[in-house]
Amino acid sequence: MARLDLKAVLLASALAMLGAAVNAEERYGIGRAATPAEIAGWNIDIGRDGANLPPGSGSVARGRVVFSEQCASCHGESGQGGVGDRLAGGQGTLASPKPIRTVGSYWPYAPTLFDYIRRAMPQNAPQSLDNADVYAVSAYILSLNGIVPENAVLDATSLAAIRMPNRDGFISDPRPDVHNH
Ligand code: HEC
Repeated sequence: MARLDLKAVLLASALAMLGAAVNAEERYGIGRAATPAEIAGWNIDIGRDGANLPPGSGSVARGRVVFSEQCASCHGESGQGGVGDRLAGGQGTLASPKPIRTVGSYWPYAPTLFDYIRRAMPQNAPQSLDNADVYAVSAYILSLNGIVPENAVLDATSLAAIRMPNRDGFISDPRPDVHNH
């Protein structure tokens, strides 16, 4: 019952926000509805299964160059960490007294790496890399972790096909089960 109420409240507030956007434009002459192109610019989420990964590809070799120029100052030349997180190593340490959390030891899905880098890195210039270079640095970080070979070239299909070492290290928690009424 309480959950049902929550859904009703969420729906009502979603409708209210929609209404507010339309009303602000019509009644007060401020703001306007976002265009499909503007929404597309923000709508860059990649599914963990690789859904929505863009065209393009990048090699480990190219990624090493980009990483050295744009990432190593914070993450270290081989991803060992610095101002920014350590990105490589630590596999098998999560259940130990000194867990080392990296892309290789912790992250369950490789497409998330593309999404995160494209969205947030380099931290001093987010969204400045083109898609090919995001594939390339993703490939380089995965190669530092021994997950792809040094001659790998990654694109939407091959990135989505990677099985990360910690894929099964997460237990899904079904609460709250909003479908069960
Ligand atoms: C100016 C410093 C800086 C630069 C340059 C930088 N990063 Fe980062 N990076 C960070 C910091 C700080 C974090 C942690 C951010 C947080 O947790 O909110 C981070 C986090 C990350 C993570 C997530 C690590 C994890 O396990 O949570 C990845 C992956 C990453 N960076 C990749 C890159 C790549 C690839 C580049 C180059 C294209 C790059 N970074 C450039 C500072 C930097």
